[in-house]
Amino acid sequence: MFEHLEPVPGDPILDLLQAFIADPRPQKVNLSVGIYYDEHGQVPLLESVAQAQHSVLEAAPSRSYLPMEGDAEYRRCVGQLVFADSVDTQTFSVVTVQTVGGSGALKVGADFLQGAYPQATVWVSDPTWDNHYGIFEGAGFSVRRYPYYAAATQGFDYPAALAAFEALPASSIVVLHPCCHNPTGVQPSQAQWHGLLDALQTRNAVVFMDMAYQGLGLGLDEDAWLVRECARRGLEFLLANSFSKTFSLYAERVGALSVVVRKEQATTLMGQLKRAVRRNYSSPPLFGSLLVKSVLGDPARAALWRTELAAMRGRIIDLRRGLFEGLTTRMPQRDFSNLLHQQGMFGYTGLSPEQVDALREQHGIYALRTGRICIAGLTAENTERVCDAWAAVVAPT
Ligand code: LMR
Repeated sequence: MFEHLEPVPGDPILDLLQAFIADPRPQKVNLSVGIYYDEHGQVPLLESVAQAQHSVLEAAPSRSYLPMEGDAEYRRCVGQLVFADSVDTQTFSVVTVQTVGGSGALKVGADFLQGAYPQATVWVSDPTWDNHYGIFEGAGFSVRRYPYYAAATQGFDYPAALAAFEALPASSIVVLHPCCHNPTGVQPSQAQWHGLLDALQTRNAVVFMDMAYQGLGLGLDEDAWLVRECARRGLEFLLANSFSKTFSLYAERVGALSVVVRKEQATTLMGQLKRAVRRNYSSPPLFGSLLVKSVLGDPARAALWRTELAAMRGRIIDLRRGLFEGLTTRMPQRDFSNLLHQQGMFGYTGLSPEQVDALREQHGIYALRTGRICIAGLTAENTERVCDAWAAVVAPT
C-alpha cells in the first residue's frame, strides 16, 4: 500500500536530540536543540512554576475540554505580556488563541492565512528555523527566502534585506523574528527595523512574527520592541509566541497566536482562528496554560519569574563570554567576537557540516550541521572541553 513513498530524512533538530539522548558517552554535550539547561546540565523547574504547579494541583481543576480558543485568563495574560499598552484599542483588537506551543501557533496562523491569501508566497529569512519551511509548505504555500545573514560581516545584511522587501510582490507574507533570531542570534538595529517596516508597509505585506524567546535576548520589553512598534504603527499583523523556553515548559506545549486587527473584524477573525484550531487539534492542552496564568496572573509570582528569566538571560551572556575567551585563548589568530554580539540562546559559529560531524563523532558534542549551537547547553564545567574539541576540529594538529 505504501511502496510508492520515499523515506523522509530525519528532522535536523529533534532527531539530533534523540541521538544525543541515546549516546552512551558520559562526557557528551548537547548544543543542538534550543533548550535552556542549568549549570548542572538539567532542564530547570523554575521556582515560580513550581509554586504555580503546587497551587494548580491543589485546586484540582476540571479536565473537561478547554474552548477551541483556549483559556480566557491565559489569553489575557499573553496579550499583556507581549503587547503591553502598545495597541490603540479604540481602533484595533488583539485576537489571541492559545495554541500547542509556538509551532501550533505558526500552524494555525499558516492555515488561516492559506484561506485568506491562497495565492501568497511566504518569505522567510535566509537562514531561518528549519521548521518554518515545513509548516508553511505544509499549509500549501510556496516559501522563499529574503537575505538576512551576511557571512562576510557575520552580521545582518541590511541593504540586501531592504532591497528584497522593497521589491516584494503583491500578496507576500513575511516572517520576522522580533528577537533572538533563530539560528543566527543576529538582530537588525531599531533604525534598520524602521526602514524594513516602512518597506513592508509600502508593499502591503502581511507580517507574521515568530517570538519564541521573549526575555532571553535583551529583556522582556526590549525583546518585544518590534511587536509593539508594529502595533504603534497601526499595522494589522500576526504573532506566534511560546513559553517553552521562557518558562522551561517545553513538553507542556504552551503558546499562543495573536492577530492584531481592526475592531470590526475581531469576531470574524476569532471565528477563523477557532476553525483552524478545530481542524488541527480541536482545542489546546490544559496544564501548561494553568501554570503560565498562575504565574503571570499573580504579581509576586510574576516578579519572581521575571527575576528567574533575567538570571537565565544573564547566564547565557556569561556563557557566551566564557566560550569567546576559551576559543580566543586557543585560536588567537581567529576572531570570535561575533559570539559576543549575537543575542539569545543561539550562536552561529561558521563551523562547516564536516566540522560539526567531527565534533559529534569524535568528541560527543552535538551541534546543528548549519553551525548553530545552543549556548545554553554550555556549563562552566563543559566549556573548556568544548573549546578544546572546537580547536581540534578547526585546526587539527
Ligand atoms: C530549536 O530551534 O531548536 C527549537 O525551537 C526546538 C525546535 O522545535 O526546533
